[in-house]
Amino acid sequence: MSSHDDSYLSAGTGRPWWADAVVYQVYPRSFADSDGDGTGDLNGLRERLPYLASLGVDAIWLTPFYPSPLVDGGYDVSDYTDVDPRFGTLGGFDAIVATARKHGIRVIVDLVPNHCSSEHPLFKQALAAGPGSAEREMFIFREGRGPDGAKPPNNWPSNFGGSAWTRVSDGQWYLHLFDSGQPDWNWRNPKVAAMFEDIIRFWLDRGVAGLRVDVAHGIFKDPDLADAPTTVRSVVPSGYYHRPETRELYRTWRAILDSYPADVFPGPRTAVGEVWYDTYDTLRPYLAPDGLPQVFNFELVTAEWDAAGIRAAIDATLSLSGGSRAPWVIGNHDVVRPVTRWGSDAARAAALLLLALPGSAYIYQGEELGLPEVLDIPDAARQDPAFRRTKGKIRGRDGCRVPLPWESGGASFGFSRTDRGDSPAAPWLPQPAGWGEFSVETELEDLDSFLRMYQTALRLRREHPALGAGAMRWLNTAGGALVFARDPGFVFAANLAAAPLRLPPHQEVILASGPLRENGSLPRDTAVWLQV
Ligand code: GLC
Repeated sequence: MSSHDDSYLSAGTGRPWWADAVVYQVYPRSFADSDGDGTGDLNGLRERLPYLASLGVDAIWLTPFYPSPLVDGGYDVSDYTDVDPRFGTLGGFDAIVATARKHGIRVIVDLVPNHCSSEHPLFKQALAAGPGSAEREMFIFREGRGPDGAKPPNNWPSNFGGSAWTRVSDGQWYLHLFDSGQPDWNWRNPKVAAMFEDIIRFWLDRGVAGLRVDVAHGIFKDPDLADAPTTVRSVVPSGYYHRPETRELYRTWRAILDSYPADVFPGPRTAVGEVWYDTYDTLRPYLAPDGLPQVFNFELVTAEWDAAGIRAAIDATLSLSGGSRAPWVIGNHDVVRPVTRWGSDAARAAALLLLALPGSAYIYQGEELGLPEVLDIPDAARQDPAFRRTKGKIRGRDGCRVPLPWESGGASFGFSRTDRGDSPAAPWLPQPAGWGEFSVETELEDLDSFLRMYQTALRLRREHPALGAGAMRWLNTAGGALVFARDPGFVFAANLAAAPLRLPPHQEVILASGPLRENGSLPRDTAVWLQV
């Protein structure tokens, strides 16, 4: 397996390291705060790398830490090649890459090509230069409709509510598929493409192993900017999503990734696209052999906890690409946490499913602790622009971004550390009173905790020859059963139905998400890994 040694290809298999990597998603603002200001930072992450090494992950993906007004948690970038002072410095970033490497952990950074921040110098220059200028051509400015141009140029909706257009003082409108603080780049302007090639090289030259590409289904817009058939937000192919030009662009990025030497650490570079899709036909073209190396499959994020639906989703993903090119994920910083979506027992079983499926898997910070979604964040503390733009109709994503609990008690449950002996500032999002119950400290002491289960699963995944990339075959597809085999000698079984499930013949239960019944059968919402 790829992890914790210095190999560049998964040992002896000829596959790139990313084909079976377990990648841990770090949301730096909420991971660990080293200077007591209530905001997580890169030093906090560096200090906690031993924790991630003991968890047993192969790589970390850092969501944006670039200079930003943080209108959308950093996905509003005002400088693509620096670190926001609240998060640290470029030197601090380099220290993460270097320290992670000592633990055999690779680093992936977030690339946000669809839009920047309205504080980006190029957007400010575009505003100042006025209509018709070359500066405005970096973005998508248009005249409005109606007699005095007071209506937006088309009916496209912002993902965060309201129109995707905002009017500026000289009367023109600019496009933003997200918040008004996130103007969309004009990808038909070759200067934009050239600038992003430089940005990609900047981070690859600093030693990163790959990129996570934000809104990878967006980027190009239909030049006609015609009205969409509906103003309801959706991910069907449209004037603003899944444009064929995007695939051309990814060919050029793939060539850049492949131009870095594959035979020295961190090995073949990857990029994983965030592509939200309606049907597999929409997703398929992104998996062209010369496209981005990887594209998330969000099947287990959108699935109900229902055996037939999950089986169908797994089959479809595997027939499209295999789980190496379309890694598995059950949560991220944009969706309700699995424990709250499915229940705690089901989330434990889902974790064992995630890590037993063929290919690569992503874990979002806090999943390994079984953190629930925080549902009762006071309105005044909410930060998600979707909450603000819809006047609370969309509650937003703050509930899965609450700072991690490291200790059972104390100020901010160990999230903020300070050497000064004084008490840290309150965390940027409030933590619930019982958060200490989910802390790393508490869970390490409890052999049955989520954390202990994840640690064991990741260790077994590295050791067991059947796990990681490869094939699987269903053994039992009846009712609530999810039972599949992987060779050599491994069977996964989960029971999603009320009636207990008899386990297939096996030598040993090597890991269970919860207690089995006395007769050895599998209760509802429980999964096991079997040696057969
Ligand atoms: C992606 C990010 C999300 C962000 C949006 C706009 O979906 O994951 O957090 O709000 O893009 O950048």
